[in-house]
Amino acid sequence: MNSYSEYIDVKSKDWQSKAINSLSQNGVVILRGIVSELVIDQINNKANKVLSNPSALGRIGFYQKDSYKKTYDGFLLGKEVVESVSDENALDVIEKYLKDKVILNEIFLKNDLGYNIQYFPYHSHTGSDVEGDVNKPFGCAALIYLHDTNEGAFCYALKSHHLKIERGKNNFLSKRQDRKEIEKKMNKIIGKKGDYVIFDERGFHGPEQPVKTSRKVLLFGYQLKKYTNNRSRTGIPIVISDMENLTDRQLDAIGVGGGTRGLYEDYHLRASSDITKKYTVVNTFIKTIIYLDLKLTNIKNFLKKNLKK
Ligand SMILES: [Fe+2]
Repeated sequence: MNSYSEYIDVKSKDWQSKAINSLSQNGVVILRGIVSELVIDQINNKANKVLSNPSALGRIGFYQKDSYKKTYDGFLLGKEVVESVSDENALDVIEKYLKDKVILNEIFLKNDLGYNIQYFPYHSHTGSDVEGDVNKPFGCAALIYLHDTNEGAFCYALKSHHLKIERGKNNFLSKRQDRKEIEKKMNKIIGKKGDYVIFDERGFHGPEQPVKTSRKVLLFGYQLKKYTNNRSRTGIPIVISDMENLTDRQLDAIGVGGGTRGLYEDYHLRASSDITKKYTVVNTFIKTIIYLDLKLTNIKNFLKKNLKK
């Protein structure tokens, strides 16, 4: 597969017009310098803590629905993520490319574990959950690379956002007659730690798989307010005090005061986990531990009381 690593430094001259141009031409842009080294290290410290243990018995930890990846609600990693995702330089590029105001769709931490399996095929978004002309740019998805990323990187078929799309059609690359042509345009988007990758969601994309290398990214997206009636794709959890440094524009862009098209509990990180066999086993185990803990405490209290007599 070809590689694409042409980044735009946000401190360079005319960076913004170059970034918008790259999105228009290729459908993707790599922005360097949005997130500082210090901030990305702080995000990594928190992400690594979350990814080291599962969420259970009140402990903050990762979610894991299958063997291949760990996930977590992105904004719950703290204000560094809230501020980076809603960075105004990035918002400028996205809003100028889409030509109007946007609202955040979703935001999550994804740790692909590198088990050499293809579980997430290349696809494009057909605007099944938005209103309006889907053959015009309506949304940009984005990633922040949490480490230098080469093997297992995000891949994008350059210029494939120009292809005509039919709303609501499941657009998996493998099902397309012209897949060979699109595959030729597929590029691995190679980036450094902290790079902010933005892409037109109508283009074909997905992670490089199968690979033996793990990958850790923040994944999110923005869509036009007018195409979504100012509603995010899902209910997005956040710690209220983590919004203290945001401007009114950033608050508006992450969806404060807006609605949602999907429920918090139906989001893919959470949905269906309570009906699987593995969950039933884990649930029984946890309830047994809690029951035994209660019994042990009762015995200790009983002995303490009676030995004093
Ligand atoms: Fe996607």
